[in-house]
Amino acid sequence: MAKHKVHTNSMMALYQHDLASQDADREPMTTTPTNSVNRRAFIAAGAVAIPSAALARTTSFASVSSTADMDFEDLMKAAGNNLKPMRDLMRLLDNPVMRQEIAYLANQVTINLAQAVDVADQAPIPERSKAKYADDKETFTKDLRIKLLEAVSASTALARQAWLGNEEEIRSLYNSIRTIRKDGHDEFEEEH
Ligand code: HEM
Repeated sequence: MAKHKVHTNSMMALYQHDLASQDADREPMTTTPTNSVNRRAFIAAGAVAIPSAALARTTSFASVSSTADMDFEDLMKAAGNNLKPMRDLMRLLDNPVMRQEIAYLANQVTINLAQAVDVADQAPIPERSKAKYADDKETFTKDLRIKLLEAVSASTALARQAWLGNEEEIRSLYNSIRTIRKDGHDEFEEEH
């Protein structure tokens, strides 16, 4: 019993410290900390605030990106590899194991495309959209991100519906992703 209590207390202390650090990550403190936990959090806040300010792309609120050195084309290929097996799985929706497989694959597609959003500035303006954007790369990249996020929303919803086991929604969201991909490629991808 005593042992359990010690364990619980130390876990609580760790938990509280963790919470203080999380707060520090979110909102650097501006007032002088009053106790040792807050002091540690204050030091941590200083440590994260400097590099994140230096690396932020558009605002000083962005955290350090783990996607910064990824390749847009590779992420698209990965999304393609994760979407492909779903085609056959759509015929097996009454099987819960297959639905689980779809949920995992859809989640991977979400991750791949969300990372692609981060590095969307790598994609060049394709010939066929040159007239629309002229040389306005900033607007092109913004529109690309907006369209990519449509696909992210659909694949997130697909994963959720797969876990919920709603066959009709699964089929419909899978078709939506394919349509969004086609429209997205028609406008944003270079014809090869
Ligand atoms: C699940 C949805 C999607 C899948 C599976 C997918 C897959 C792919 C694949 C396989 C490629 C070719 C990569 C290569 O071998 O060169 C590609 C390229 C590309 N995709 Fe997607 N895509 C999806 C959605 C989108 C959306 C919604 C957009 C835009 C809004 C988009 C924009 C692009 C662009 C711009 C490229 C050309 C990349 C480059 O040449 O640098 N994709 N995509």
